[in-house]
Amino acid sequence: MKIFVDTADLEEIKKYLSWGVCDGVTTNPTICLKCGVKGGIEGVKKRTIEIARLIAPRPVSAEVTSEDPKEILFQGRECAKLAENVAVKVPITDRHGNSMLSVIRKLVSEGIRINVTAMTTYNQAILAAKAIEAGLKINTAKQPHFISIFGGRISEEQGVERACQVIKRTRNWLDFHGVKGIEIIVGSVRSVETFELWSRTGAHVLTVPPEVLAKSLTGARTKETVAQFIDDDRKSIAEFIKQNQQMKDGKHPIEGSKQGEGGR
Ligand code: E4P
Repeated sequence: MKIFVDTADLEEIKKYLSWGVCDGVTTNPTICLKCGVKGGIEGVKKRTIEIARLIAPRPVSAEVTSEDPKEILFQGRECAKLAENVAVKVPITDRHGNSMLSVIRKLVSEGIRINVTAMTTYNQAILAAKAIEAGLKINTAKQPHFISIFGGRISEEQGVERACQVIKRTRNWLDFHGVKGIEIIVGSVRSVETFELWSRTGAHVLTVPPEVLAKSLTGARTKETVAQFIDDDRKSIAEFIKQNQQMKDGKHPIEGSKQGEGGR
């Protein structure tokens, strides 16, 4: 399973790259806003290029910011030109539920790497996979496309178990039908508990916010255990130094007596 970092913060990305746990990055307009990316679409493009360079050849997903299919096509093409490792994020529908699948199919058919986003149901996920497959018949991809299921948002409405079910069923469907070149990303990971739960669903990728990754590293008993080992090592060194000093002073290290006095 791959871990993507769900952020546009360059320092956080550098940190998790150095840990060896960053296989890619996902962003969206909300994340860019939260991370202080300024200057509208130009600012987002600049940051996307910076992230793409930083993590290459790993992928960075950047999202289109329109609900108009023609504009999405334009933005998707522009976005794909930013760097080779950019995946264009396109929501499955607009805010009214109008399909974006034809735009998705078209972009895939042009060889543009797509991340179909904002999905909360199994049916959406398989429709997205079908649209990508249709585009792939025209233009085979070297790198996998993505279908993003928002686990956290499903959980808020229907519970975490339902989110697990949607992810597992989507993975089973892809496998059962031998679908190649499409990976499931689970997004909207908001806690260490869901990170654990969804990493066992068969999802190819979990995209995790930096704060959840940071929390996932810590465990109360780990800190206590490390503290115990370090403290005991210091005690052992202190004892060794004390014994050496006693030897130098001519005292028996155990009995605390002068050598030759108490031992005979
Ligand atoms: C990932 O690709 C998504 O943009 C992200 O995980 C969404 O998370 P949210 O539901 O917390 O906004």
